[in-house]
Amino acid sequence: MTADQPTVDELRGASETLLIPLACRARGSRERMSGGFRDDLAEGLVSRFGVDLDRYAVDKPSIKGVIARGAWFDSQVIAFLRAHPNGCILSVGSGLNTMFERVLRQIAAGGWHWIDTDLAPVVDIRREVFPDTDMRSTRVLDVTDAEALAEILAAGRPICVVAEGVLMYLPEPAVRTLFETLAQLALDAGVPCRICFDWCSPLMVRKSRKHPAVRHTRDTSIIFHWALKSPRDIQGWHPAWTLRAQSQAPMTQAGLKSRLFGLTYQAFTGGRWFYGCAAMDVAQAGSQRAP
Ligand SMILES: C[S@@+](CC[C@H](N)C(=O)[O-])C[C@H]1O[C@@H](n2cnc3c(N)ncnc32)[C@H](O)[C@@H]1O
Repeated sequence: MTADQPTVDELRGASETLLIPLACRARGSRERMSGGFRDDLAEGLVSRFGVDLDRYAVDKPSIKGVIARGAWFDSQVIAFLRAHPNGCILSVGSGLNTMFERVLRQIAAGGWHWIDTDLAPVVDIRREVFPDTDMRSTRVLDVTDAEALAEILAAGRPICVVAEGVLMYLPEPAVRTLFETLAQLALDAGVPCRICFDWCSPLMVRKSRKHPAVRHTRDTSIIFHWALKSPRDIQGWHPAWTLRAQSQAPMTQAGLKSRLFGLTYQAFTGGRWFYGCAAMDVAQAGSQRAP
């Protein structure tokens, strides 16, 4: 790497947090922590950028949780592309995620397209590693920028927005605007629209600096902001959103302690989840439920 190339050490704020899932995937792969999970690309990236695994991938439950989360997101994206072979995956806050490469191994290249996006300093780094191709491009996109989203939806392709480990870093009004904007744009354009995201309970947000992965970031001001009690609450923001699937896999597959903690939280909150992943669709008038 030359002196004028962007480095991960310069990342600040929520952008530094991309090193957490990257390091977890790399360490999980290197040390064979989750069954057959392998991510050679993530392993190569942490070596190339000198990512400190002892800072960003410290505890086993976080590593296993990140791997389980990624597997769940992959499965949702693959199901969407099988249903919409000409669809577009819009990954927001992509960081140095290797999801496109993992998905491409499981579903044949065809008419679908993939857009990876993030804030400018991250895109500078991503572009060093992931060159644009006919199928995949990388661009700067602040997920709170409604005009930029409108431009992408205007292409008229069925769209699946992927926000893995992203929305909790945004203030609630920004997340709400994202869901309202996406639903309205999809309805206006008459295109199928899905969003896959993970969400944190109010307790998880309040304790975010104590989170075993987040507590080690160099930037100590990083905290979670957006809290949710249930993905169904999003229907209160825009009634077109319907819950398609949800998962607690990052908790249940992260080891006994995380599983028990999740169950205890449910017992004390009338069944609510501490942390979850969800896929929601915009229901078009008269449309059948998508697979
Ligand atoms: C924890 S990382 C997740 C990275 C990636 N999705 C993954 O799972 O490996 C959070 C990412 O969200 C990005 N981010 C934070 N605020 C954003 C915003 N307003 N618009 C777009 N991306 C944002 C950060 O730059 C960072 O890359």
